[in-house]
Amino acid sequence: MTQWWRDATIYQIYPRSFQDTSGDGIGDLAGIRQRLTHVRELGADAVWLSPVFKSPMKDFGYDISDYRAIDPLFGDMAEFDALLAAAHEQGLKLLLDFVPNHSSDQHAWFAESRSSRDNPKRDWYIWKDPAPDGGPPNNWIGNFGGSAWEWDEHTEQYYYHAFLTSQPDLNWRNPDVRHAMHDVLRFWLDKGVDGFRIDVVWHLAKDPQFRDNPPNPGWKPDQPEIQRNLQIYSADDPFVQEIVEELRDVVEEYRDRLLIGEIYLPIERLVEYYGKNNEGLHLPFNFQLIQSPWRGDVIRDLIAEYNAAVPGGGWPNWVLSNHDQPRIAKRVGGAQARIAAMLLLTLRGTPTLYYGDEIGIGDVHIPLARIQDPWTKNEPDTSFNRDKARTPMQWSADPHAGFSKAEPWLPPTDDCRTRNVACQSEEVGSILSLHRALLALRAENEDLRRGDYRPLEASGPIVAYVRGKSIAVVLNLSSEAIELDLPNECRNGKVLLKASTGQPGGAVPQSIAGDEGIIISLAGTHE
Ligand code: NOJ
Repeated sequence: MTQWWRDATIYQIYPRSFQDTSGDGIGDLAGIRQRLTHVRELGADAVWLSPVFKSPMKDFGYDISDYRAIDPLFGDMAEFDALLAAAHEQGLKLLLDFVPNHSSDQHAWFAESRSSRDNPKRDWYIWKDPAPDGGPPNNWIGNFGGSAWEWDEHTEQYYYHAFLTSQPDLNWRNPDVRHAMHDVLRFWLDKGVDGFRIDVVWHLAKDPQFRDNPPNPGWKPDQPEIQRNLQIYSADDPFVQEIVEELRDVVEEYRDRLLIGEIYLPIERLVEYYGKNNEGLHLPFNFQLIQSPWRGDVIRDLIAEYNAAVPGGGWPNWVLSNHDQPRIAKRVGGAQARIAAMLLLTLRGTPTLYYGDEIGIGDVHIPLARIQDPWTKNEPDTSFNRDKARTPMQWSADPHAGFSKAEPWLPPTDDCRTRNVACQSEEVGSILSLHRALLALRAENEDLRRGDYRPLEASGPIVAYVRGKSIAVVLNLSSEAIELDLPNECRNGKVLLKASTGQPGGAVPQSIAGDEGIIISLAGTHE
């Protein structure tokens, strides 16, 4: 076992938006294959693809109608095989998105399940009688708004869907469902994929008694409806740990495969997903940096709290952005996005980098008429729009940013003629060159990958730490210059990389400029 993923940087691709080769304005597998060199030149080690399986695309692929087929929008199985082979040839691992909590209502399993109450697949989904008043069986709300229960006229029962009505939840308490899903994993593992990111894994087991969720006292009507109740009973039931252990057993039938899980829970619940004796997920996704305000005190505390919570033998990981969240450059601004990149790529643990963050894609204006996200369409406040994090990758100053010959499904940024891979590759000090430099340093420096993490005394907007025996990192999360009071080993060291320039910086300064971050080679550890 190599546990390659401890040293790796994962790069998430949203396939609809990476590169279109078919000319329909939507990205495809052939496009991803063509652009693998970008990932390699960036210095990432593994690619995670959001779903590319057969789907009616009501939730853009997170509603799967055939777990073993590629959607024609993206290509076909031969194209997938070619992509996998090309990734491996270039030394890249390929991870797929496994969406086990729900299928599409167009899946053959659901068609059978809803056909009659005594169909053998009836129990593959979650069917319940109405409450005594004829309404839904309990008060659970769908994550995209509205009741999570849908009435089925034909069989006169409700079915449960944690997301869209067209995404019925599978019943993971049924062993046949589990076995069928294990075989889905084996199908892709047999092809040679290197692992999976598991969608909403904490949702897989619900309260067996289906009790009402308690109200959330802090909820306000302009917030997403799902937050109206506390999600106590609708997810994270203890049985989910058994489900996860079984999934782990399946990947253990193969060599060196990785299981990552998408989990939005407080830290103490999140780390449960490493499993007893680390027999659960290798990497339960850590979204702390996404969910917290960008402030020195907050970031210092959350790093300490998370590191302390990761169980012995478990390996940490960090995520800055993904396809469901506002982009990092939107959240913290362009200058601080560089500091965030330096943080992500120097903390202890596997980083996941979201496509487009390496060129600093920030806010994108999506006209109302062009909104695609089904969740946004359900909510009163359209400023919260996942489309903004899913816009086309910007490759060049060509029309449509070099993404497609046709009008893309979502618009690129207004500054795409200069904010693109071709321009930034030429530009000394671009955010792209900073990412390349950070990843190159991480690749060559074992302390940055594996070294211990030790916080340095810091206050206000400064976050500072030592990695292993040879490296220190000092980040200024504000735009003001700040006096530094560093220990001698840092003061007498030299600057290996500055966030503002993406270049080495000579002697360690006495104060750090605003929006600056430095990586220091400690005194006595360089010639
Ligand atoms: C989480 C995915 O990341 C999100 O994009 C999707 O809408 C939901 N799961 C439902 O599958």
